[in-house]
Amino acid sequence: MLLSVRVFSPVRYCMAVCASMLLIGCAPNSTSETEEPSTLAHVMDPLLNDASEVFWDSAGFIDTYEGTTDLTPTTEEGWQSIIEAADEITRLSAVLQEERYSLNRPAWNELSQMLVVASDRARQSAHDRDGAELFEAGAQLYQVCVACHQSFWSNNRFSITESEAQ
Ligand code: HEC
Repeated sequence: MLLSVRVFSPVRYCMAVCASMLLIGCAPNSTSETEEPSTLAHVMDPLLNDASEVFWDSAGFIDTYEGTTDLTPTTEEGWQSIIEAADEITRLSAVLQEERYSLNRPAWNELSQMLVVASDRARQSAHDRDGAELFEAGAQLYQVCVACHQSFWSNNRFSITESEAQ
């Protein structure tokens, strides 16, 4: 039985809620799998979201009656996947700063750049094999997501409370 979860998965939690709302609401725009991933929504999800989840799924603890599961990577591949996710987030930060997405808004570019600060921290934690630091980097990354969504996403579906984010 699950006792408590100390992992960073507020986004997935929220997406589950949103998904059920979408089913009731109108059908989402259908885009073919083969289309060029050129929309901001696609950069966000799956690209940025999936890379971020590598951090969030690799940090923290899950407590059950059977014991505590530490999500910190234990293998070379596990730590390597953190480094790859950090590289991907760095790449996507640059994509977000392209004019078609940034519209030359300084605050947008600043927030996009902060994704790199958090992913650099995660990459360093992987080099140091430091699970606690990886958790902090994941939390820092999440703050950037929230900050940008609050500033630039008028139809923000991520408006969850601090207590839910814990
Ligand atoms: C520079 C600003 C910015 C940053 C940083 C940012 N987002 Fe977003 N995000 C947006 C905007 C704007 C939208 C709304 C896009 C739309 O639907 O047109 C959005 C939408 C999303 C969506 C919903 C996409 C959809 O299907 O409509 C997800 C998921 C998402 N972001 C995840 C993330 C995650 C995870 C992070 C942090 C790692 C993040 N975002 C950081 C601006 C940002």
